[in-house]
Amino acid sequence: MCGIVAYVGKNSARKILVDGLKRLEYRGYDSSGIAILNKESYLAKAVGKVAMLEERVWKDKPEGYVGIAHTRWATHGKPTEPNAHPHTDCSRQVFLVHNGIIENYLPIKKRLLAAGHKFASETDTEVLAHLVEEAYKGKLEAAVQRALQQIQGTFGIAVLHRDHPDQIILARRGSPIVLGIGKEESFAASDTSALAAHTDQVIYLEDNEVACIEAGKVSITTLENRPVSRGPKLLEVSAESMERGKYEHFMLKEIFEQPEAVENALRGRLNHSEGVAKLGGLETVLDRLQQARHLIIVSCGTSYYAGLYARYVFEALTDLTVETELASEFRYRKLNLRQGTVVLAISQSGETADTLAALREAKRKGALVLGLVNVVGSSIARETHAGVYCHAGIEVGVASTKSFTSQVTILALMALLIGRGRDLSYEEGISLIHGLEEIPGQMREILKKSSQIRKLAEKYNSAEHFLFIGRKYQYPIALEGALKLKEIAYIHSEGYAAGEMKHGPIALIDPEFPTLALAPEDGAYEKVISNMQEIRAREGRIIAVTTEGNDKLGSLADDVIEIPRSNDILMPLLTVVPLQLFAYHCAVLRGCDVDKPRNLAKSVTVE
Ligand code: G6P
Repeated sequence: MCGIVAYVGKNSARKILVDGLKRLEYRGYDSSGIAILNKESYLAKAVGKVAMLEERVWKDKPEGYVGIAHTRWATHGKPTEPNAHPHTDCSRQVFLVHNGIIENYLPIKKRLLAAGHKFASETDTEVLAHLVEEAYKGKLEAAVQRALQQIQGTFGIAVLHRDHPDQIILARRGSPIVLGIGKEESFAASDTSALAAHTDQVIYLEDNEVACIEAGKVSITTLENRPVSRGPKLLEVSAESMERGKYEHFMLKEIFEQPEAVENALRGRLNHSEGVAKLGGLETVLDRLQQARHLIIVSCGTSYYAGLYARYVFEALTDLTVETELASEFRYRKLNLRQGTVVLAISQSGETADTLAALREAKRKGALVLGLVNVVGSSIARETHAGVYCHAGIEVGVASTKSFTSQVTILALMALLIGRGRDLSYEEGISLIHGLEEIPGQMREILKKSSQIRKLAEKYNSAEHFLFIGRKYQYPIALEGALKLKEIAYIHSEGYAAGEMKHGPIALIDPEFPTLALAPEDGAYEKVISNMQEIRAREGRIIAVTTEGNDKLGSLADDVIEIPRSNDILMPLLTVVPLQLFAYHCAVLRGCDVDKPRNLAKSVTVE
């Protein structure tokens, strides 16, 4: 979603800011803007890609060593230039960019209008620029603190004032802000990927903190002006991991990085002698975890499907009762926590607003709250009692791929850890460990089929609709495969539990409505075959994903993609790969913007 970059130092700000915005493009946005201070102030905005803004900035060549920039994902008001950030006050002294939502902006706007303030946009953000103007009495930091004290909602902001051309004020509540410290220069951004090219020394701002950055200097206070002392941490994201390398798209690169991502998820986490997993991040809560009876998993999007997978796996390997819930719905349910309820939040970014709100609610009610997160130091990672990192590396493509397979791998490890503390035998544990160790090599075999899958995409990409079916462990994969195809190739796709298909979707089946059937030879295989027969009887075309050497499909499928055999529980790690490649190739063939699909954002920080 929206992105922020800020720079103050010894170098010209324009290139650093525009490059920073490009690094944040992957988050999803629809307009952008930049402000640079010098003797004159410079403000430019553009609708559409950052390249449009870049063109304008290169033409204007604004001088200046301090500036802020923003990519906006529209919430209040359409993506237009007036609505793009930075926003200014009446006298164009204050320049402000904002991520998040100001919930009480309407009454504030009404009061400010009555007091004579002039507004130029339909955004909630603009009230903040006017509040800073109103509160300003010579000290910018104090004015920002006073302005923010009137705000309900979430914010990550960066503010410039023409009277203070050597400093930038930043503040955070709910929307991340990271400060980067260099030699005689300082940076700030909503995401470390915009900082990695410049420095490896970062400070994560906490909620309700305000920072003042000057060239090479940082000071932090609370909103109430109490000083905060926090030293920098080493940033682990490298600038190289943000490059596409030989791949045409980040999504393809990330699909191909999956064997390595699974290896990283497993590294140091397998105990062969006891047939169990070792998850250091859960050690402090292991006793409580072993007493738990009830697990609620909350997440959104692809992470939600990883949660649905976990339900089957935890129930198979442990005696826990497991519920999986969309984070955005979880908060509307009456939460009847029993003694020993554990809530697990799954999130690639660690910033998804609904997931964060769900875990806060669960924490307030006294549950043990765990996180499974990819981005180190993110809000969810910091707010949970304990958790596990995916270590999948930065994921840039909006459509989640390697994060999903990392999540699935670690969820299997978590279930193994808890299961071995209960009834699961050593034999079952070690067989799972051996299965997991084979997965990276098996994934590499599947990735070799990319050109075969591209041929299938050539055959099927003109379909307007697609059905994905699977049962048990493969049901969440059917949902994930359908999500991939709709989000990047814009083909309407439905993921369905194969057994449920005859209660509705089968009415749609005809020669123009193909189905992708997940039919590895697992415990649900025979049943899926019956469902495929039902589709065949209605002249539906079928692509089947099945296990190598299965020659029993006969004329049931028009096309077959074979995957290596594994333990039933682990087969989803393999079946999902051809589905990702299929969606990718369909999207490329349909001319879609694979890494930045329309209307979507990588990290959804609004509720
Ligand atoms: C957005 C992204 C999805 C992601 C979902 C949940 O919708 O486009 O790829 O699955 O958010 O994000 P999280 O970071 O919480 O896993």
